[in-house]
Amino acid sequence: MAEVGVQTGRRRRHEGIVIGDDWPGYSLDLFSYPAHYSGDLDCVIVPHGVIMDRTERLARNIMDDLGDHHIVVLCVLKGGYQFCADLVDQIKALSCTSEHTILMRVHFIRLKSYLNDQSTEDLHILGAEDLSFLTGKNVLIVEGIVGTGKTMETLLKHVEAFRPKMIKVAGLLVKRVQNRSARVPDYVGFEIPNRFVVGYALDYNEYFRDLNHICVISDSGKKKYKI
Ligand code: HPA
Ligand code: MG
Repeated sequence: MAEVGVQTGRRRRHEGIVIGDDWPGYSLDLFSYPAHYSGDLDCVIVPHGVIMDRTERLARNIMDDLGDHHIVVLCVLKGGYQFCADLVDQIKALSCTSEHTILMRVHFIRLKSYLNDQSTEDLHILGAEDLSFLTGKNVLIVEGIVGTGKTMETLLKHVEAFRPKMIKVAGLLVKRVQNRSARVPDYVGFEIPNRFVVGYALDYNEYFRDLNHICVISDSGKKKYKI
């Protein structure tokens, strides 16, 4: 019985906080958000404060696993910038207050594959031409969202070619999609339904990065910012 409990705990930790398909989200009226997006959103799916609390715990898990290592944080722009900044802040805070510390270097790469709400085949990786400084290093890839997993798979292959000592992946959001291709991140904030979400640096055609909460975009929001 105890064994089952341990396994369940591990599984839960791996999935992160699971948000079910039937979860209607919070009404936008319950939160503050920029007036320029009124009518463009259906609901708040993860409020900003909850993101911060979950990120604090992920930093603790990372510290428990990697404490006293040197790591290179590979921030996947643009969608990962806010999560990466907050996660690095939390790890820094823990490094100041606990016996264990993690020395971090932070590097940025940029991926682009989405047009409107669809993943396109041509994935562009910018700033990743020469990652030879990753050879023999412990790498923590930080992603805002993992959708189909194709982006993650391409990026992992690219990074693995430089033969780092270890690669861990932190993803704030993982979508529940069928036929997931790549591995699930080692550190997951939330597992969410397969809906298009924006906010906390996640965009729809570059809009909505200036929104604190993670929200579901409305049909009229998609139409308004379609290209
Ligand atoms: N929102 C923003 N960017 C994304 C998403 C999403 O739901 N899925 C994959 N990239
Ligand atoms: Mg995007």
